[in-house]
Amino acid sequence: MFTRILPSTRALALPAFASQPAARLVLRAARWSTPPKSLLATISKETSLAAGGEDEKRPSAIASRLPHPQDVVAPQRFREFELDGRVFVVTGGARGLGLALAEVLVEAGGNVYCLDRAEQPEKHFWQTRDELAHHFRGTLVYRQVDVTHAEQLDQVIAEIADKHQRMDGLIANAGIQWVQPALEYEAAKVPEMYNVNCGGVFLSARACAKQMIKYGIPGSIVLVGSMSGLNANKGFTSVHYNASKAGVIQMGRSLAMEWGQIVSGKSIRVNVLCPGNILTPMVQNDFRNDPSLRAKWEAANMMGRISETKEYRGAALFMLSDASSFMTASHLVIDGGYTAW
Ligand SMILES: NC(=O)c1ccc[n+]([C@@H]2O[C@H](COP(=O)([O-])OP(=O)(O)OC[C@H]3O[C@@H](n4cnc5c(N)ncnc54)[C@H](O)[C@@H]3O)[C@@H](O)[C@H]2O)c1
Repeated sequence: MFTRILPSTRALALPAFASQPAARLVLRAARWSTPPKSLLATISKETSLAAGGEDEKRPSAIASRLPHPQDVVAPQRFREFELDGRVFVVTGGARGLGLALAEVLVEAGGNVYCLDRAEQPEKHFWQTRDELAHHFRGTLVYRQVDVTHAEQLDQVIAEIADKHQRMDGLIANAGIQWVQPALEYEAAKVPEMYNVNCGGVFLSARACAKQMIKYGIPGSIVLVGSMSGLNANKGFTSVHYNASKAGVIQMGRSLAMEWGQIVSGKSIRVNVLCPGNILTPMVQNDFRNDPSLRAKWEAANMMGRISETKEYRGAALFMLSDASSFMTASHLVIDGGYTAW
């Protein structure tokens, strides 16, 4: 494996090669006459990631750019993105988008609590937690909480804040989806949709805001909306999901207004992240129910593909860190151009 990917001396001089994560490892490995086995395994893993990531046919640009743990310790660079010692809650963090966003907060130094109604998170959660603990200063913790249960939510979030004597941020990501034509829409699904997607988001934001005020932290709150809150998704028969996400976008503006100077004159900033189609368990379920859906969704945005959860890492870090210190009451759309044509 090592001889296959070790380039010639001339190739090592090429800047394009040297910027690849695998190349950095090769350069490090080249310092040993016999590289350690663990390093060879890492090179092999990173080479395959750089070659295509999760979707080899349509690799995302970010897949080959994610930093190696040893490269991120550079205290003087991009310090406004650092989250050292800060405390965050991510709802719906047992899997999917929530877990991917929790991960980047830990990498930046945050202590992150994933709250989800699932009794246990996906197996991937524990692997992720252990890998992060090995490489980074931040921590990842799981708590079972249903975001529609106000009392339980208030209690758990207060416990977290009391333990650390602070609360810095929230990603209100827990959400559900129900696809059914409007004329057949099950009546019981209507309140359920708003209860989780709007009510749960509101209760999570309020529970965290109370702790930010208590501990005098002008924090940042990101509500997860959707491009579905901005347009009528072509062929996506999910009227109340779409309407609930429109509600989230408006909720962001209203909370931002109320909390604009709430912490001794400083803000709790509230913004909304509006993703396009992402390959998560929620969407994989849609594809199982209607196998023709994937091709339709891929064709519906300008980039001709569905996004990966990791493509929202930068947005989450930006919105929760000091890098976005003048941003509030906004919504950030990342949808491959879907809503622009
Ligand atoms: N996947 C997409 O294409 C897409 C696009 C735009 C927006 N979003 C939004 O992103 C968020 C995450 O979606 P995902 O695709 O990762 O979905 P997912 O179903 O994979 O994950 C959602 C998580 O939320 C949890 N959850 C649901 N109801 C809850 C409750 N009452 N209390 C606590 N946890 C609860 C679930 O258990 C699950 O772990 C959702 O708000 C979704 O609407 C997703």
